[in-house]
Amino acid sequence: MEDYKAENPIAVFDSGVGGISVLREIHRLLPGEDCLFFGDSKNAPYGEKSTDKVLELTSSCVDYFLEKKAKAVVLACNTATSAAAKKLREKYQDLIIIGLEPAVKPAVLWDYKKGGVPARILVMATELTLREKKFLNLASRCRDKAEIISLPAPGLVRLVESGKSGSEEMAEYLEEILAPYKENPVDSVVLGCTHFPFARADIKRILGDVPFFDGAEGAARQLKRRLKEENLLDLSGKKGTITFENSSESGVQLALSKELFSAEI
Ligand code: DGL
Repeated sequence: MEDYKAENPIAVFDSGVGGISVLREIHRLLPGEDCLFFGDSKNAPYGEKSTDKVLELTSSCVDYFLEKKAKAVVLACNTATSAAAKKLREKYQDLIIIGLEPAVKPAVLWDYKKGGVPARILVMATELTLREKKFLNLASRCRDKAEIISLPAPGLVRLVESGKSGSEEMAEYLEEILAPYKENPVDSVVLGCTHFPFARADIKRILGDVPFFDGAEGAARQLKRRLKEENLLDLSGKKGTITFENSSESGVQLALSKELFSAEI
């Protein structure tokens, strides 16, 4: 059994820079905690890989976090969560592992003021997330209350990963994939991939001012709850540090991670 300590860091993991959208919420809620953010940009995108490959990549990152004495691991990636969370929790039973799932539940509970007419909810995520059992079960539990429309957006991961939020190229890509929902509007959008909050403004420009839902805040709250339960919250009153690491050797995504951490979104 590992000896987890309150002063040890929280590891936050993503296939690339997307998990920064979750790291921001964690740091906002738990400013005294040290966080280690690791983006596996060398192997991104995960969403187009096989489930077994994503499980393998995620597992080896968790082993690395344990070497770094992490007291909790946040899979700040819906794709890695779908592929690996269950298996990792079975393997590391005493480690706090927080996952991300598309925020379909709050989107279904939202009051759209449609007088009983089911809302049309667009769920944007990776191909892997949308084909896995975890999401299919979630969607089927909600189907009697809302119309759930799945939209894979692999190009969007690549664009965010290369720092192209707000670009002409991103606008063109989104115009193409969102065209059907301009004609037949949706009532809300679930950003079911942690890269996508960095494209929220671009999506909004096309779909208009509908409510957006993502899992970042909920994951941060769940992390706080679990740390508290295990007496692992750092209560020393110090200011938490953030360490950024990335598997890509180019340095581009490392710089982008730091930029996105403080960007306006
Ligand atoms: N950020 C990831 C997610 O939340 C996956 C992006 C990718 O690598 O395909 O699903």
